[in-house]
Amino acid sequence: MAAMSLEKARLFSDVLRGDPGARILWARPGADRHKEYEKVRARGALATSRRGLLFTASHGLCQQVLSGGDFGPAPIGASARRRNAAGDVTLVHPVDDSFLKLEPPRHTELRALAAPTFHRRALADLTPRIEKSVEHCLNELPRGGVTDLITNYAEAVPMAMISHILGLPQTDAPRFAAWGNVLASLLDGARTAQERQRSRALVTEMTAYFKDRLEQAEPRNAGLIAGLAQQCPAQLNLREAIATCSMLLVGGFGTTTHLLGNALHMLLRQPGLHPADGDYTAVVEESLRYDTPVQYVVRVAKTDTRLAGRAVTAGTPIVLLLAAANRDPEIFTDPHVFDPRRREPHRHLTFGAGIHFCIGAALARAEAAIAVRRFFERFPDARIAGKTEPLQSRALHGLRGLPVVLGS
Ligand code: HEM
Repeated sequence: MAAMSLEKARLFSDVLRGDPGARILWARPGADRHKEYEKVRARGALATSRRGLLFTASHGLCQQVLSGGDFGPAPIGASARRRNAAGDVTLVHPVDDSFLKLEPPRHTELRALAAPTFHRRALADLTPRIEKSVEHCLNELPRGGVTDLITNYAEAVPMAMISHILGLPQTDAPRFAAWGNVLASLLDGARTAQERQRSRALVTEMTAYFKDRLEQAEPRNAGLIAGLAQQCPAQLNLREAIATCSMLLVGGFGTTTHLLGNALHMLLRQPGLHPADGDYTAVVEESLRYDTPVQYVVRVAKTDTRLAGRAVTAGTPIVLLLAAANRDPEIFTDPHVFDPRRREPHRHLTFGAGIHFCIGAALARAEAAIAVRRFFERFPDARIAGKTEPLQSRALHGLRGLPVVLGS
């Protein structure tokens, strides 16, 4: 205890007092957090931590906060505001400086520049490309021993796709993986000075990379970067363009990796879940609900308001436990059971709701359904061959390692 920081010691004392928020933040990353989420649910629709943070595990309340106008993204810090005002292009944060943190009308304008790439028709055009990337990644899987499916497949497929969409060379992929993995620490909030330093260094590197790419892009180049570069500076400034690119890279990579990793892991453990018709759409949908990759998002009250019959003052943060909302017994029958045949398949909140609803939801679903199907078609005898390693993150849920033997 003597070596603990004051902040940690306070958190620990809150844990001992049964504070719901503290218990979630303190929980060992990768542990079954649903036990703690259920304690939040037991306190009613809204639970308050000792430090004034609100928590909810209610599906209805999460939906209401995300879709209504009284709550918005948490405001960015003073240093990000200063960098914005100065038009700084040396350090652009993929989350804080992106449109994820903005309100309309700027949010609507910037989102509209990226969204068409992910619309249904564009996605239909992308499907053959997903098939091709999946085949390539399957061909590249190391054979003849134990293979880690997370780095070699669950990371490789989404990385290939987001690189293609942005128009980035596949040869740069190894750097993208390191940047993509920075998401976990950004969402968790780096705790030690060393973590803060490392994530700052990676974000600085990613900023310089996208700045160069945007400045060097030519109209004839394929990909979203060339499209954004053409709209610069009339529709968006360089800083906003960098933030959009890095948000798409970081947001589209880690999350989909965990969806794919979680779904493969579930099927390897429970072969009875394989669909008879070879269509994995429902398995992916249930994996999104049951093994929610983004465990929670945060909103802040924009004005004095009321929520679940209680007064909430402007500036109060609320942690929306999406993973818990996805197991709300008021919405889902037997919520703690993985059941691809359930009747409420599309009501989960895994991709959020309201104006910030995930731009890449359809892409992630398509990638995962194809990648899972093709993996088991190619390697029907694949089996787990060692201890799986949970991801060390509070905000994200997934695996860091999934050792398998591929079989014949
Ligand atoms: C927003 C989850 C895949 C890009 C969000 C949000 C969630 C989420 C929960 C809302 C955040 C909030 O309201 O605070 C996921 C999950 C994915 C996934 C679980 C995979 C399983 C992707 C992909 C892309 C992407 C593939 C892009 C290639 C974005 C963007 C936003 C977003 C740009 C911000 C939208 C806005 O603010 O208008 N995602 N995501 N995501 N996601 Fe995803």
